[in-house]
Amino acid sequence: MDEHQKIVDVMDQQQLMHNQFESHQQQQNLLLMQSHEIECIIAERQRQWQETIDPQNLVVGKVIGHGSEGVVYKGSYKGQTVAVKVLDDNGKKKISEDSMGIVKLGLMEEVEVWKNLDHPNVTKMIGATMSMITSGSRHKIKNPKPENNFCVVSEYLKGGSLRSYLLKLKHQDKKLPYKTVIRFAIDIAKGLSYLHSQKVIHRDVKPGNMLIDKKQTIKLADFGESEIEPPELLITCGERGTRGYMAPELVSKHPHGRKCDVYSFGICLWEIYCCDTAYTYDLGILTPDIYKYTRPSIPRHCPRSLAKLMEQCWDMDPTKRPEMKEVVVILEEIKKSLELLSRWRHPEGWFKLFKLRR
Ligand SMILES: Nc1ncnc2c1ncn2[C@@H]1O[C@H](COP(=O)(O)OP(=O)(O)O)[C@@H](O)[C@H]1O
Ligand SMILES: [Mg+2]
Repeated sequence: MDEHQKIVDVMDQQQLMHNQFESHQQQQNLLLMQSHEIECIIAERQRQWQETIDPQNLVVGKVIGHGSEGVVYKGSYKGQTVAVKVLDDNGKKKISEDSMGIVKLGLMEEVEVWKNLDHPNVTKMIGATMSMITSGSRHKIKNPKPENNFCVVSEYLKGGSLRSYLLKLKHQDKKLPYKTVIRFAIDIAKGLSYLHSQKVIHRDVKPGNMLIDKKQTIKLADFGESEIEPPELLITCGERGTRGYMAPELVSKHPHGRKCDVYSFGICLWEIYCCDTAYTYDLGILTPDIYKYTRPSIPRHCPRSLAKLMEQCWDMDPTKRPEMKEVVVILEEIKKSLELLSRWRHPEGWFKLFKLRR
């Protein structure tokens, strides 16, 4: 068994343990056993670790986001504006001292996947460090233990997350122009198609993990749940990812592959088109059997080609979902037909036609 699989297994066992074990004593014993195993893996990882950021050149500023493993700050590194994700027990979820090691391991895994990625629709990682944050920091990072130090530095994307962008529009009772829907969808599809070509499965595709740059390009972010696709399908015991966007095979803990990202993309497509969140209730209460039949309803006015694409992407059967590179082609065709239509509608378009006919 390779090291990656071992880590995934340990994390899954912990998750499973939280879900299944009734007895507190059983939980404590297993936790002790696994803590030791995790400590060994962390120690090994730390031995192999290579610093890619010089903390002396890093300045950490104000908070821009709260994630599951910590806090994201705006900062600067060697004069470039950056985002700094810091392992901190001040994030969305309270991280207990026992789980700190697992969370740190998760961040190390994220860096391993992310560092090799280079694409216009993927947020660029600049580097990571386990050394103390620079004394030049304006913000007091609430992470007291030096062994928990960890931060990942990436390019800063001014527009924030696609989720907050869509929510803002929703509150103003606005929708995105159809042309923009298709442009955003192409960006995301290209980013995912690239990841899949690199054998990376994102596994947490949702607007909260997509960022917008100053030119309104969408870039994929947050590789905390990502994994490298082996030749055969992966099985994960613990539930990771976000309900609502998660493919049914993940919720049912069946083998899965890159097609789980295609499912999530289908839900994102709905959200971008509707400028809304697909579900207003907590899907965590649904059993896997009910969950697999749950889909958002597509508005009647949605163009048929886009509605069909959503349905293909969120098909219950992963083998029937298209590959992301096929999705790019379908969306490019929709874009082309839109351009053609607008040229014909435009007075100059009619003029050109008139000239051609003569
Ligand atoms: N590079 C970035 N530029 C701008 N904002 C960012 C950047 N990275 C993260 N954020 C903000 O921080 C939030 C959480 O980041 P994320 O990487 O998703 O953390 P987590 O893995 O903990 O969910 C994002 O939704 C976004 O609002
Ligand atoms: Mg996130």
